[in-house]
Amino acid sequence: MKKKFAPSIMCSKPWDMLTYVKEFEKSNIDMIHFDVMDGNFVPNIMLGSEDYKALHEVTKLPLDLHLMCINPAEAFTYFDVKEGDQVSFHPETCKGPYKLLQAIKNKGAKAGFAFSPATPITYIDEVKEILDFVLIMSVEPGFAGQKFLPDALNKIKRVADKNLNIDIFVDGNCNSGNVAKAFNAGATGVVIGSALLNKNNKAENFSQDFKSYLHALN
Ligand code: DX5
Ligand code: ZN
Repeated sequence: MKKKFAPSIMCSKPWDMLTYVKEFEKSNIDMIHFDVMDGNFVPNIMLGSEDYKALHEVTKLPLDLHLMCINPAEAFTYFDVKEGDQVSFHPETCKGPYKLLQAIKNKGAKAGFAFSPATPITYIDEVKEILDFVLIMSVEPGFAGQKFLPDALNKIKRVADKNLNIDIFVDGNCNSGNVAKAFNAGATGVVIGSALLNKNNKAENFSQDFKSYLHALN
């Protein structure tokens, strides 16, 4: 499976977003990761439906909507999800996870479960027919810039061992060192946050920085 890269736009300063989007397009990035936090499921508030709409207006790149909300079924209805996008939510937060996966797919989007570090992946076994991908969190959801939790590697491997032919994304501190280990464990996609966005990196240098990042993986 082709490895996929999804930079996390919540790590951008608002004034840098457009520059990043142009750089992502130059870099053949697969999709833009879009974090939604409700200040309830996670102790932070990030990105809204109008930002989502605005991003769709400036790029054809698919958006990768990651709902960190206590009521993802309701939150999902606020977002103008387009065909080709992908949407994940945390199944333990949802009253009807199967129904929400179906609602996502009805929009022509890919439907996935996001797993916090201590959430068991057994949810996957009940939705094998309709699940398109998983997002394994390698940090507690809520903030960028945290440390990679090594147990995530074992979790990735256990999902990969199921041989389901679904994408396995990793989200949290995906610097090239951790990503090399995650790919080794069976991951097929990564969310790039503060490893490349806005720590000491300038938005206009993203495509150059991304080249070095890929180089470090090989
Ligand atoms: C954290 C978010 C991540 C975040 C990753 O809860 O889900 O997508 O942007 O940022 P880093 O890579 O800095 O951990
Ligand atoms: Zn995320």
